[in-house]
Amino acid sequence: MKIQVPRSKNTAITFASMLEKLEILRSTLRWASSLERAEIQKLLRQCNELREEMLRLANRGRFVDSAKKGRAKRKKGSMADRRQALLERSFVFEGIFGDNAKLLAALEIAEKCARTDLPVLIDGESGTGKELMAKMVHANSGRSEEPLISVNCGAIPENLMESELFGHSKGAFTGATSDRKGKFESAHGGTIFLDEIGELPLQSQVKLLRVLQSNEIQRVGSDRLVEVDARVVAATNKNLKEMSREGTFREDLYYRLSVIEVTVPPLRERRDEIPLLQEYFCAEAAERLDRAPLAIDEHLQQFLFEYEYPGNIRELRNIIYRLSCLADDTAGLEHLPEELGKVAAELGPPVFIDLGSGALNEVRKNASDHAERKFLQYGLKEVNGRVVDLARRLEVNRPHLQTLLKKHKLSYKDYRKTDKAPVPGGSEG
Ligand SMILES: Nc1ncnc2c1ncn2[C@@H]1O[C@H](COP(=O)(O)OP(=O)(O)O)[C@@H](O)[C@H]1O
Ligand SMILES: [Mg+2]
Repeated sequence: MKIQVPRSKNTAITFASMLEKLEILRSTLRWASSLERAEIQKLLRQCNELREEMLRLANRGRFVDSAKKGRAKRKKGSMADRRQALLERSFVFEGIFGDNAKLLAALEIAEKCARTDLPVLIDGESGTGKELMAKMVHANSGRSEEPLISVNCGAIPENLMESELFGHSKGAFTGATSDRKGKFESAHGGTIFLDEIGELPLQSQVKLLRVLQSNEIQRVGSDRLVEVDARVVAATNKNLKEMSREGTFREDLYYRLSVIEVTVPPLRERRDEIPLLQEYFCAEAAERLDRAPLAIDEHLQQFLFEYEYPGNIRELRNIIYRLSCLADDTAGLEHLPEELGKVAAELGPPVFIDLGSGALNEVRKNASDHAERKFLQYGLKEVNGRVVDLARRLEVNRPHLQTLLKKHKLSYKDYRKTDKAPVPGGSEG
């Protein structure tokens, strides 16, 4: 019996296209007198694909909901238009994004280069969405129906790296009991995503460069050259240019990989995305945890907006999942993990003008204290905790500045970066 579910070349998923596929699956099953194991596996694969598509559609639904709410608050401007234009070109991004100029610029570059076969290098801090961006490049390319094969170069032991990437032939080394295809061959026709490329050992860098130049691979232990057509997308949270200056990353490979370079900005440089992401993750967590979407009180809201997010979007997502698990209806600062609770205390209470609280002078004083504290905190951060420098910048004398720091219970020590060399002259800068 022949089992076939036609895969449309059009990658846009709609309920109608999914229903059509379901119907074909149903009638295949209805008329099957008996099924071979291989046929069952094929059907299972198709069920899984349908399930994936369903999840993507659900994600998109959530995205549209959040975007609609966001749009109501947003003024019409060029950023919103650029974002709308991306969406109208049925641009595929399986995450959420707002009107942030830096992110939009990155998405636009990625979308443009997606259609070509040029290598793309995605850089950005951990958790900023590099992997998502790689998926986006693949999904918007002409290869989207072919496989996207991911390799985490940081997770593979050095001695197995080449066999993992290029495969091996039987007997090539102890334990190579049969011929095995590598990731490059598996990605033939599609895309290979080399994550954490900065972790690739120098020896493998040489081999990779050769493959990129010749489009041919050689399995470990074999003389035969095999032609491969895989589009390369790489990602790194390291500065490869600097690494190549230091000699830990081959400069020629860096230039090969970075024909198109896309930088995903850290979350703290696109804070305007936070409310949108927060809402998206609240809805996602509610669905996963089978609960009503979490409400977030004003204090926590403010904290989530101001926090620096060293772990970027991944960290925000984890925080929301934790809150959704621990809080009942409404989450507050008390639901944060201890470490973050400390950071929240450090940022200080937000100013909320409570008209019921009376005297204008009181409100003014609170607001002014709050602003003063914030100002000092930002200042200390800027000067890396050096009180002398801060006093100079603020044009106040040092004893006065110290009194202010004391008043706000701020310590210069908390703003010293440990990786910086100690400042000469004086224990407190
Ligand atoms: N714009 C976004 N919208 C929704 N989720 C996002 C977005 N960017 C990143 N994420 C989520 O954040 C997490 C980290 O993203 P990932 O692509 O793995 O980051 P990186 O590879 O840079 O470490 C993932 O769960 C991802 O789905
Ligand atoms: Mg990653």
